[in-house]
Amino acid sequence: MDTAEFRRRGKEMVDYIADYLENIEGRQVYPDVVPGYLRNLIPDAAPEHPEAYEEIVRDIERVIMPGVTHWQSPYFYAYFPTGSSYPAMLADMLSGAIGCIGFSWAASPACTELETVMLDWLGKMLNLPEEFLAGTEGQGGGVIQSTASEATLVALLAARAKILKRLQAENPGLAEPEILSKLVAYSSDQAHCSVERAGLIGGVKMKKIPSDTKFSVGGEALRKVIEEDKAAGLIPFYCCATLGTTPSCAFDNIMEIGPICNSENIWMHIDAAYAGSSFICPEFRHLLNGVEFADSFNFNPHKWLLINFDCSAMWVKKRSEIIGAFKMDPLYLQHDHQESGLVTDYRHWQIPLGRRFRSLKMWFVFRTYGLKGLQEYIRKHVSLAHEFESLVRQDKRFEICGDVVLGLVCFRLKGSNALNEKLLKAINNGRMIHMVPCYLADSFVLRFAVCGRTTESKHIQLAWENITEIGTEILQELQQ
Ligand SMILES: Cc1ncc(COP(=O)(O)O)c(C=O)c1O
Repeated sequence: MDTAEFRRRGKEMVDYIADYLENIEGRQVYPDVVPGYLRNLIPDAAPEHPEAYEEIVRDIERVIMPGVTHWQSPYFYAYFPTGSSYPAMLADMLSGAIGCIGFSWAASPACTELETVMLDWLGKMLNLPEEFLAGTEGQGGGVIQSTASEATLVALLAARAKILKRLQAENPGLAEPEILSKLVAYSSDQAHCSVERAGLIGGVKMKKIPSDTKFSVGGEALRKVIEEDKAAGLIPFYCCATLGTTPSCAFDNIMEIGPICNSENIWMHIDAAYAGSSFICPEFRHLLNGVEFADSFNFNPHKWLLINFDCSAMWVKKRSEIIGAFKMDPLYLQHDHQESGLVTDYRHWQIPLGRRFRSLKMWFVFRTYGLKGLQEYIRKHVSLAHEFESLVRQDKRFEICGDVVLGLVCFRLKGSNALNEKLLKAINNGRMIHMVPCYLADSFVLRFAVCGRTTESKHIQLAWENITEIGTEILQELQQ
């Protein structure tokens, strides 16, 4: 493809994308395909000779679209949202064109510098404590990781390196394997599975602290486990608190957990993967109170801040602690402006070496929407969730499970788990809307997460109609 053809094909693709998103409502939100469907639709080896571009494009509707789950559909209410907006897509195109690998400042100065400044912009939008910002002289700063899972792991590995260094400095005879075998990390029993996985990858024990009736972990529960573990000779070193848990969007009490972590020399990481975006609104910022006690904080602008995947924002108070944990400095990666107040090399902050120019999409989105536009977007989703909540509350056959704080509503038919499993299966089989379940205190619960950028009140009303119709059928069948 030469430049002239790219100009033409690029415009065609923009039209295809605009049509796709404009008409997405007309597509079935969840596909009908069966496992292995795609292998039969394309050859079993790459073509020997070039194919016409028209043929590739024709295959999008034939091969790809039948197997797409339309996450951007206003009828998609599963998991949590994944961000999508036109300015973010345009910025990603540019990122693809620049095609740099920004592992160090020298590898592409704009890639590094824009990221540092965008993380400062976003940190200010959230009103993060000054210590988390890089500024020109700060000790802290932000980085874009690919996912919240990676941020949790990176924080755990940094905490592990920090405690190893400290304990070995205090007891030079202490061998690393001995320390490692005693390290223990904590999270809520409601934490995302990626936290448990970080413990597995990091080779440390990860204990789940029991949450209370609001699915939140408080100071008392954490302190109890810490005391027991210390008495058993273990070394607590890391605690991952969640703001906005995956099952029910519950909030750990970081105002209580934070001071305990600080006094016990435990690294506190905060995972606010979904909920974090809401903290840009002053009325939700109180949910972040206590972040001042954290060593690291992370959320996913790629979930709820109109930025396409991947863009997970992570901040640390002391960037030296993260850089120190992973530093490798071969000659071929060195340059004349290594670590200074003005410059960082992001390869030291993450697991892979390579990294894309992801801050471009933050820059485009922040400028296109402005803080006000982004706040409006969050507020609209929260208000749609409350609209759905009130529909559920008006129908006495259903119950709401857990508090509706942001854009997630957990609900169920009053009755057994089997009844609710049947309900969800029938709803998803109906293909009009798509949801996923969770367990809350052993109850099977349906999660209704407002996800789509274009979701409006009419979609919420139609979704509820669909749910009640199916619910009525199931209840009537039971009575027969
Ligand atoms: C609280 C929480 N943490 C972590 C994750 C994992 O996110 P990621 O896919 O960015 O690793 C999720 C995903 O929904 C989540 O809800």
